[in-house]
Parts: sequence; C-alpha cells; structure tokens
Amino acid sequence: MFFNRKKKVELNTGNIPKHIGIIMDGNGRWATRRGLPRSAGHRAGAETLRKITEHCSDIGVKAITAYAFSTENWNRPPAEVDALMKLLYEYLKDSEKRLAGKNNKIRVIGDRSKLSDEIIREIKRTEELTRDNCGLVLNLAINYGGRDEITRAARLLATDAQSGTLEPSDITADILGERLYTSGLPEVELIIRTGGERRLSNFLLWQSAYAEFWYTDIYFPDFGKKDIDQAIFDFQNRDRRYGKL
Ligand code: IPE
Ligand code: IPE
Ligand code: MG
Repeated sequence: MFFNRKKKVELNTGNIPKHIGIIMDGNGRWATRRGLPRSAGHRAGAETLRKITEHCSDIGVKAITAYAFSTENWNRPPAEVDALMKLLYEYLKDSEKRLAGKNNKIRVIGDRSKLSDEIIREIKRTEELTRDNCGLVLNLAINYGGRDEITRAARLLATDAQSGTLEPSDITADILGERLYTSGLPEVELIIRTGGERRLSNFLLWQSAYAEFWYTDIYFPDFGKKDIDQAIFDFQNRDRRYGKL
C-alpha cells in the first residue's frame, strides 16, 4: 500500500493506472491572479509537469500524455504562441540536462509540420537521447488534436489500401488504433483536467472511450503530488463496467 500522510489517501499499488492523460489547464488564470504575465503561468506549469512526471514514475505509472499545445491554440495572440513555443523548446533542452540518472522516455506527439525547424531538431534530439530508456514514457502533445490524429490515421489506412497492402474490409478498431500516436502504449485509463473546465478540448478523442475522467478547479501550476494521488485514489474507487451490469 502507498500512503500519503497529508490527505491520508491510501493507494492500491496493484491498481495504478498505466497510462494517464493530463489536460494541463489554468496556467494563464494562475498567472493573472498573481498579477503576472500569462507566460509566467506556462513556465510554472512546465515545472509542475516535471514534478508530476517524477511522482508518477515513482508510483509505477507507465505512460503520461500531457496536452501542451492544441491544434486550436494557434488561434491565441501571436505573442502568447511565441512564448509557448519558446517554453517548449526550453523544456526539451532542459529535459536533456536533467536526464542523468533518469530512465524516462520523452516523445512528442502531434503534427510537427507547423513547428519551427529549431523545435523539430530539438524534439528529434530529445527523442533520440531517451529512446532506449525503459522507464515511464512522457508523450508531450504539441500541435495535437484528437480529430487531426484520427484523420491522419484514416489517411495512412487509405494509403495502404490504395497501394494494395491492406483490404478495406480488414480495417478494425485495433488496426486503426495502431495508426494513432499512442500505438504500442498501454490504454489511457485516466484523464485529468485541471483549471475547472469539464471538456476534452479535442484531447485523446479515440483513446478516451473508456478512460475515467477526473477534473479539478485547481490551476495546473498549483497541481501537486497529493492531487495526483487523489485522482488515482478516486480512479481506483470507481466502478468500471464497460457496458456490462
Ligand atoms: C493551459 O493553460 C496551457 C495551454 C493551453 C497552452 P491556459 O493557457 O489555457 O490557461 P487558462 O485556461 O487561460 O487559465
Ligand atoms: C486545452 O486547453 C489545451 C491544452 C491544455 C494544451 P485550452 O485552454 O486551450 O482549452 P479551451 O479553450 O478552454 O477548450
Ligand atoms: Mg485554458
């Protein structure tokens, strides 16, 4: 048993969700409330993600998919988009520096074609450096959208069908799932959203089919280990029926 003194949340170590999706929301409001620029909230959020990843790795979570930038976030003012891109670049650079002694694998999911060459290079570098690590997999979702991901999968399947390597009648949900960015990873079992909203905002549309959804009003920079433990505790106490009685 895993014991958290602060809130007395006792986790069942035999039922830790293998893959957790996190919609890291509320950075901007966190900063505004403190009279800081929104970018300061994003910076604080990046630090929170580091802490959460470490904690999840310690308690046995196998994979985290963290929503860092959606396909819709390009509609924000250019200065904010620039600040976010700069921060993503720094996050990757900094992750490389912190790699010593860590066994986590970092991957970036989403459409890279709209990212700068500098960021694409850094993504490749970080992925390459952590490729052989066998600990927790951290998927950073950047220019990611669930609809975009499923559309891309459909396009890949159509290409295979056109070239004759795949019969349309052989396409199953599993085959489509193999064309998604999360292919090869455990099922997403828990999706957490901070910042008070109760929507998916185009996150993991396919993978969320039977994931448990957990939300909190806490802004992401304030989200801590005890909150993750609470989310996992609640997950462990839900009745997952999968359509059965
Ligand atoms: C989430 O925080 C991070 C991104 C979407 C990049 P927000 O920037 O959405 O923060 P709020 O929701 O405005 O507080
Ligand atoms: C979702 O947050 C995207 C990320 C956390 C990266 P948003 O703040 O963009 O979502 P909406 O606009 O409230 O739906
Ligand atoms: Mg938001």
